[in-house]
Amino acid sequence: EKAGYDHYMKKEIHEQPTALRQAIAGRIDPIEGEVELGDLSISAAFLSDIEEVQFVACGTSYHACMYGKQLVEHLADVRATVEFASEYSVGSGRDPERTLVVGVSQSGETADTLRALRIAKRSGIRTLGVTNTVGSTMARECDDVVYIRAGPEIGVAATKTFASQVVILALFAVTVADERGELDPTAGRELLEHLQSLPGAVQGALDRNDAVEEVADAYAGGEAFFFIGRRLGNPVALEGALKLKEISYDHAEGFPAGELKHGPLALVTEDTPVLALLTAGTRPDETRNNIKEVQSRGAPVVAFTAPDDDGDYEVGFDVPDLGLVEPLVANVYLQLFAYHVADDKGRSIDRPRNLAKSVTVE
Ligand code: M6R
Repeated sequence: EKAGYDHYMKKEIHEQPTALRQAIAGRIDPIEGEVELGDLSISAAFLSDIEEVQFVACGTSYHACMYGKQLVEHLADVRATVEFASEYSVGSGRDPERTLVVGVSQSGETADTLRALRIAKRSGIRTLGVTNTVGSTMARECDDVVYIRAGPEIGVAATKTFASQVVILALFAVTVADERGELDPTAGRELLEHLQSLPGAVQGALDRNDAVEEVADAYAGGEAFFFIGRRLGNPVALEGALKLKEISYDHAEGFPAGELKHGPLALVTEDTPVLALLTAGTRPDETRNNIKEVQSRGAPVVAFTAPDDDGDYEVGFDVPDLGLVEPLVANVYLQLFAYHVADDKGRSIDRPRNLAKSVTVE
């Protein structure tokens, strides 16, 4: 069942190129630069007049929503919010008829997310579910559903589904932008090209597994691990930290790079490796200052950079130029890093203590 891999998590990390191809199959017209989310029945009139898109989710799916929020705002010039599903309330001052709530859930059964969607629905807000699971409660209850088509994910740690969720949210952002007449054709076409190159770029990262394993072996003894990134690097930094803490039981924290000096820097020592996202769209020049701050306290830096970055890092991995989806390639390195640290420690990788794959209680 694990197809020769030691763990489902590893198998699922390696399935990402296929999952990503499935996510976009038949949904992109590269010639016209258009997206066809055939399963979406929301009218063009509704999307063109939309006032706010509210994303709700938990855990890894929440990080995918943080990414999606930025894409929607950037491409469609519409207000977008993201909230932990367990914290969601409709709030006042919104026109329910011009609001769309987008729930994102791998399982489609997460109680907190279903609850948030039901609250929205009761308030007359239209709901869209983005899920991996056909026939799930989310799929049945939402007004619309788009499947991410990642295939079954058995490991408790969400891996391939994160990338596929972000890809679907990117296609959704293009759709909204297009319907609102906000889509810059060059930016739209470029994003679609990058989405098509993403599976190959992810494979490139997977091919460097042995190098990541060496880095993980070298740093597994760290006291704590910090993940930093700006803009689209931020959700991926948070996701990298979640993955590591979940399966290795090490203390790991992710935050926007700029927040370092507002508190977390006090924790940085030579025993706290810092994993930093410095790819093109993540404001690398500003993050480089943060890197100096941690290096001057002795912390080793593992950096994910553009290929022409000649900065001074303890370890560096190149990420090809893929515009808005570049951080998804860096994320694959972070998944492999978490996996190998946990493996070095002999953790129960597919079934970490205290956690369930599908959290069906609020
Ligand atoms: O099925 P969902 O996407 O709704 O699950 C949400 C979270 O419980 C889930 O992403 C959790 O954070 C993962 N175990 C993280 O790897």
